[in-house]
Order: sequence, then structure tokens, then C-alpha cells
Amino acid sequence: MSTRTSRILHRSLRATPPKAIGGKGVWLIAENGHHVIDASGGAAVSCLGHQHPRVLEAIARQMSKLAFAHTAFFSSEPAEALAEQLTGSEPGGLAYTYFVSGGSEAIEASLKIARQYFVERGEVERYHFVARRQSYHGNTLGALSAGGNAWRREPYAPLLSPAFSHVTPAFAYRERHESESDADFVRRLAAELEAEFQRLGPNTVAAFIAEPVVGATAGCVTAPEGYFNAVREICDRHGALLILDEVMCGMGRTGTLHAWEQEGISPDIQAIAKGLGGGYQPIGAMLARAKIVDTIRHGSGAFQHGHTYLGHPLACAAALEVQHIIRDENLLDRVKLRGNQLEQRLAERFGNHHHVGDIRGRGLFWAIELVEDRATRRPFDRAFKLHQRIKAAAFEGGLACYPSGGTMDGQSGDHVLLAPPYIATSGDIDMIVDRLGTAVDRAIQSIKQ
Ligand SMILES: Cc1ncc(COP(=O)(O)O)c(C=O)c1O
Repeated sequence: MSTRTSRILHRSLRATPPKAIGGKGVWLIAENGHHVIDASGGAAVSCLGHQHPRVLEAIARQMSKLAFAHTAFFSSEPAEALAEQLTGSEPGGLAYTYFVSGGSEAIEASLKIARQYFVERGEVERYHFVARRQSYHGNTLGALSAGGNAWRREPYAPLLSPAFSHVTPAFAYRERHESESDADFVRRLAAELEAEFQRLGPNTVAAFIAEPVVGATAGCVTAPEGYFNAVREICDRHGALLILDEVMCGMGRTGTLHAWEQEGISPDIQAIAKGLGGGYQPIGAMLARAKIVDTIRHGSGAFQHGHTYLGHPLACAAALEVQHIIRDENLLDRVKLRGNQLEQRLAERFGNHHHVGDIRGRGLFWAIELVEDRATRRPFDRAFKLHQRIKAAAFEGGLACYPSGGTMDGQSGDHVLLAPPYIATSGDIDMIVDRLGTAVDRAIQSIKQ
């Protein structure tokens, strides 16, 4: 990081990051020629790595035909084909696609279509949304209202909607009592969700929203077996919808195209984004069941929502090619294979590490949680900003990973998230774990000095 000023409001207003000037496969190249291996695809975005020739060609092909036509007047070939690819076979009953430009927009669309569905059914009293603490659903005000991460919400709290409430997440390392089995834990969480429905009035709840595998805020947290079945049952019993946020964990990241496939349930509405376009274009989507779309079709006739860049032809062309590559190259099998290797290497390197309390994840979506004391799970003093130290040490050592703080409760705790491209080789996985080990040890050393 340099301290020179820039006219951009960068994420830090005190330092300007180096410019990225190139990339190839798993590698990113900074302006000074520094090569870093992209172990997190930014924030689980670049699922095919960088500069995949097939995607570049697909964008160029579409660009030469038509870059943009507003959706108030036209549909486009790539948008129709991508919607067919995503919902043509109606996976889990999801039959329709609504294209947006990113994850937060996909969540806004999910919340609004849930609300409009109930308005058009005459159930106007359904406007409550139940979400979970320590979740992340995006940074626009609706998505931030849904999110349960304390520090992200804090400055904007007066602007956030009271229609949202939050229950305990299915985060075993931090929330399961020592005396509880997984099944006990699931029972307790289900009872809490049921109690929240009762507190709000079950016929006032529009939807429950959750990430099947929690990403940025808690670090690759999978739910204990049976949790999502219990959640689905509660929603169904009370006539509420289930919205799953697969913006980060979806589109193959966990080894199946949709993360919910491994939970034995499917949602009524789903948000996807990052791995949809792999970073080649900004794109997200909301997928919905036919009963929702048909209710609106036979009611007012239109989803009362919209943005200028909905279904952008270049974005859809890029995402369509990304999805074809995942299919043609059997990359889901590769995610499982390399994911097993990543799990194994992380266990070897950090399983006995004094300051790694938990290693968790699924597919090519893994995190380590750092603790000062393994026995008590006490996190490092947040003043140390350990996650930032790890990020800096990793970058210096040629590794881009995704460390975050506030893992435990939105304030304290540190984790590092890894989400390597699906094309990563066995050697790449070894290098990632090796470089991460060095960075973690260096960062901890810098605190102890
Ligand atoms: C689970 C989840 N939902 C929503 C979002 C918001 O997506 P975007 O940053 O594209 O608006 C993110 C981004 O990290 C996310 O991880």
C-alpha cells in the first residue's frame, strides 16, 4: 500500500492499493511486477481465474453485435440463454431468473419479490423478515438491514429497517454449547426460530433469509446436519418463504452448483452473483419459484422493481460462457477433488497450530479461525487487527487471501477465507497453504514482538 493520494474513494482513505495490471489463470500481477497467487478470487468471485480466453472471446463476440439495449424495450440473446441455463431445468423448483448487476441487488430483488408476492396474495400483513446474526447480505440499505454483522450495521443503524430481526446463526464453533450434540444444537436453533415467528406473529413473517454456507462475516461456516430441513419446515408450516443467499457460496463454490443441494432442501427464492460471472462482468441474479412469479403474473402483471442495467447483454454473455466452461470442463468434480486436498493440507499445516482454533468449509471454500487461546477459544485483542496483518504479510509473500475481523460476534475474532479458482492445480493448492502458513506465523510474530 502506498500513502499517495488518489481521486478515488478507495476502501481505505489513507492508502492507495497497487494497481493490478494483468492476470493469467490463478495469478494476478501488480504494477511493480509483483505476482500474487489469487487464493480467494477477491471475495470468492474469480472462479475461473483470470483472462480465460473463452470468456474474453464471448464478451468480444457480443460486444461486436450489441453492447446494450434497455430492458424496457428489448430482451437479448445472451440474457434469454443464460436464464434458460440457470432455470430451464427448474432446479429445486426455481423456474425464473431476474438479472441484476451484483449480490446486493440480487438480495434487494429477493426481498422485494417476497413482499410483493404476499401483497398480491392479499396477505399484506406479511412484511417481517427473519435473518441471522453474523450474516452478510450486502451493503445497500435493504441488504444491510437483513445482514446481522454488528460493525457493518452500527453506523447506519438508524437507517435500517425494523422489518428485520435476527436469530442465532448455525455457527457451531462459537454458538454450540459444550454439552450439546449437533442434533441438540439444531433443536435449540429451530426452537429459537419458531419462538421468533411466534413473537412477530407467524402470519406477519414474509421470509427467513440465510446463507447456506456463511461467507465473509464468519468464514465458511456450514450448518450442522438437519438445520436447513428444520428451517424449511418452520417456513412451510407458517406459510413464509425461504430465501437463500448464495451470492458467495453458490455456483459451484462448495462442490455442487447450488450449496442447498447438499442440505436436502431448496429455497423459494435464491440470490446468486460472484461465481455467476466469475468477475468477468458485474452480474447477479435472483431465482424464484413459479408460484411466486405466477402469482404476480396473474395479479398486477409486473414485478415492481428495476435497474437500468438489468440483464446487460455483455454481462449475460460473459456469465453464460463462465457457466458453459464449468459444465464443459467438469469443474464441479474438480472443486470436490481440489477441495479435499485443500482441507487435508489445511489440517496438516494448521491442525496443531497454537493459534488456529477452527478449520472449516466445503468444496473450494475454506477458512481458518485465529484465536489467542485454543482451549478457551478466546480471540486476539481486536486492537492488534490480526486479520489486517495477515493480509499484508500474505500479499508481501505473493498470496492474495481474504482475512476479516469480527468473526466471533461482529466485533472480535479473526479468520482467513480461501476461495481458490476452480481451475487451481494440485501445486497451486500446496503453494497457497504454504504461503498462508508463512503469513499467519509472521503476523502473529509481529504481535508478540
Ligand atoms: C453472502 C453475500 N451476500 C451478498 C453480498 C453482496 O454482494 P455485492 O458485494 O456483489 O453487492 C455478498 C458480498 O460479499 C455476500 O457475500
